Amino acid sequence: MNKFEIITVDHDETSRFAEKLATYLHPGDVIALEGDLGAGKTTFTKGLAKGLEIKKTVNSPTFTII
Ligand SMILES: Nc1ncnc2c1ncn2[C@@H]1O[C@H](COP(=O)(O)OP(=O)(O)OP(=O)(O)O)[C@@H](O)[C@H]1O
Ligand SMILES: [Mg+2]
Repeated sequence: MNKFEIITVDHDETSRFAEKLATYLHPGDVIALEGDLGAGKTTFTKGLAKGLEIKKTVNSPTFTII
């Protein structure tokens, strides 16, 4: 498995990276997100959804859990 590290400095960069990454995904691919509160998981997921042309609103499950 290839390993790489990407460092993003703000919301927009994370979003744009995820949006671009989406174009390399295939059906059945799985992405696991791990990070503390506010790490950027939802930002990433929203960007990914945009790249996949998903029109539905993407919300953080954290709010639902709280
Ligand atoms: N490099 C970065 N990537 C993404 N968000 C960043 C970055 N730097 C700062 N931020 C800020 O950090 C916050 C990330 O929030 P986000 O909701 O995406 O995190 P989360 O991991 O989903 O949190 P939670 O576990 O509470 O759901 C936003 O306010 C965003 O502007
Ligand atoms: Mg979240």
